[in-house]
Amino acid sequence: MQHVVIFSGAGISAESGLKTFRDSDGLWENYKITEVATPEAWDKDPKLVLEFYNMRRKQVLDAKPNTAHLAILELEKKFKVQVVTQNIDDLHERAGSRNVLHLHGEILKARSTKTHLTYLINGHEIKPGELCENGHQLRPDVVWFGEHVPNMDKAEKLCEKADILIVIGTSLNVYPAANLVDCVNNNCKIYLIDPSEVPLWKRKNVTHIKQKASEGLPALIKELLEKF
Ligand code: APR
Repeated sequence: MQHVVIFSGAGISAESGLKTFRDSDGLWENYKITEVATPEAWDKDPKLVLEFYNMRRKQVLDAKPNTAHLAILELEKKFKVQVVTQNIDDLHERAGSRNVLHLHGEILKARSTKTHLTYLINGHEIKPGELCENGHQLRPDVVWFGEHVPNMDKAEKLCEKADILIVIGTSLNVYPAANLVDCVNNNCKIYLIDPSEVPLWKRKNVTHIKQKASEGLPALIKELLEKF
């Protein structure tokens, strides 16, 4: 059975109503990364950081998977499918995808600032002074800029095995995540689904489907299911 890796970014959740980061009116137009998404920001003003992620957590719970998230299940009929996502929302899981690897963490989980144990908190708002079972402050279980990406090795191994890589809704601006497109073998077919130009180093076997996720992914999946 052919292996498909779906490498997703914020764009796949845009049509679920969740803001992307670098589009116009994106999150990084309204918040400074250095104030809400770095270890230094946490040290300086943990309350502001917690408020930023509490707000985003509520938005995630108010959002629903869209047709792009749901279309992935169809692919599982004929392919071994692995989702590798930069997103911290749970829309892939709520759409029914079982093999989802998060590179940048999961907003519905909290992490102990000391033991790094994680706790599923769903919609709970983390407050300053809220401690883990061992008495240490809780933080969102997300990967901030400059922090180690613990699932990167696993993601690279999954991409090395891919026969098809579908890159969807990511500007490929953030490393090391963006390196995944270079981990696939030369026979791997790469599809890029994004309404805008994304610098995917015009590799010989990249097909750019210049459409939104909710149109481009279901159409591609239909084509792949007919072809294989
Ligand atoms: N369908 C498909 N793609 C879309 C859609 C849509 N409806 N709307 C926007 N896009 C595309 C944009 O054209 C852009 O290429 O999604 C991409 C979003 O890019 P970013 O906002 O940079 O998001 P992403 O690539 O996921 O960011 C990566 O940066 O800030 C960090 O940790 C954060 O995981 C995030 C990482």
